[in-house]
Amino acid sequence: YKAEIDASDIEKGTYPHYMLKEIDEQPAVMRKIVQAYQNEEGELSIAKDTLDAVNASDRIYIIACGTSYHAGLVGKEYLEKTAKIPTEVHVASEFVYNTPLLSEKPLFIFISQSGETADSRAVLVHVKELGHPALTLTNVAGSTLSREANHTLLLHAGPEIAVASTKAYTAQIAVLAILAEAAGKAKGFEMKFDLIQEMGIVANAIQTLTDDKEAFEQIARDFLSTTPNAFFIGRSMDYHVVQEAALKLKEISYIQAEGFAGGELKHGTIALIEDGTPVVALATQENVNLSIRGNVKEVAARGASTCTISMKGLEEEGDSYVIPHVHELLAPLVSVVPTQLIAYYAALHRDCDVDKPRNLAKSVTVE
Ligand code: G6P
Repeated sequence: YKAEIDASDIEKGTYPHYMLKEIDEQPAVMRKIVQAYQNEEGELSIAKDTLDAVNASDRIYIIACGTSYHAGLVGKEYLEKTAKIPTEVHVASEFVYNTPLLSEKPLFIFISQSGETADSRAVLVHVKELGHPALTLTNVAGSTLSREANHTLLLHAGPEIAVASTKAYTAQIAVLAILAEAAGKAKGFEMKFDLIQEMGIVANAIQTLTDDKEAFEQIARDFLSTTPNAFFIGRSMDYHVVQEAALKLKEISYIQAEGFAGGELKHGTIALIEDGTPVVALATQENVNLSIRGNVKEVAARGASTCTISMKGLEEEGDSYVIPHVHELLAPLVSVVPTQLIAYYAALHRDCDVDKPRNLAKSVTVE
């Protein structure tokens, strides 16, 4: 596998940080994944034995940690909406000691950039003892989680070196979308959109954002350069993304951040909103656009400095940034990018070591 890594993949080149380079690589990663999963007829496809394992299961259990867990939250939406398989997402370290009641024919999907995370591996060992099948989504061929699972799907993101994960998150979501589509098609469900075409639109949209870095540097400067805390809010698919956005900001800028479901903030946490508390809202989902807008007004009325990032078609006057339009289900692939860049610039403004944040390791091999 090592021989397949191009030297340019592991050098920073002209970039000041690996994280920025890896954020910028995301359009290329999206295209590469589509290519890697295309068959000779040009259709997206997944190895038959893997697909059979997915479609033989009555319930999928996604197991992961950190950013990979957040990708799993989005993947659940795809597996349920496109492949119509009930899916649960679990933090590995909790699942292993407090295993829920399992269905009759469970399939376990492990999501792990490194394929080496000890918490996830502990679950895999447990699952194998129980005799259940496992599929690993990983960026590293030959990694422990890949070797020990029955099936593997590779992320094709190229080496991710910055501790804060960016391109692996979008790669995981893209591969989960392809898996869900292939599983749905194999069952004879009609697909609501052409995933290959939509992924091309996604790649271009990400490119537009990475070409517009100054805008996100400005948002980071305006909202996050001195604040001790910040909130991210979103609903539905956006709720999954804001959890990742908050994690990214915490990891590299050390700002205390929380990703909240827009409607839940008022049930307690809104007490923390003071004059000037930054609240970043994502608005990419039509059916909850009005309600997230209402939540933004609630916090603004209590003094919050609000920054709304919306999707073209749903924008309102006063939004801080409007991302290009993509299919709603794929919006997380695009809406996460501004939050990655905002976290990056917030960390820079605060003189933090972006690529090697304190207390963190790229791959955690102890439970
Ligand atoms: C560590 C990293 C995180 C990562 C998590 C899971 O905590 O600092 O960035 O999301 O592990 O890693 P994995 O390799 O399993 O995706």
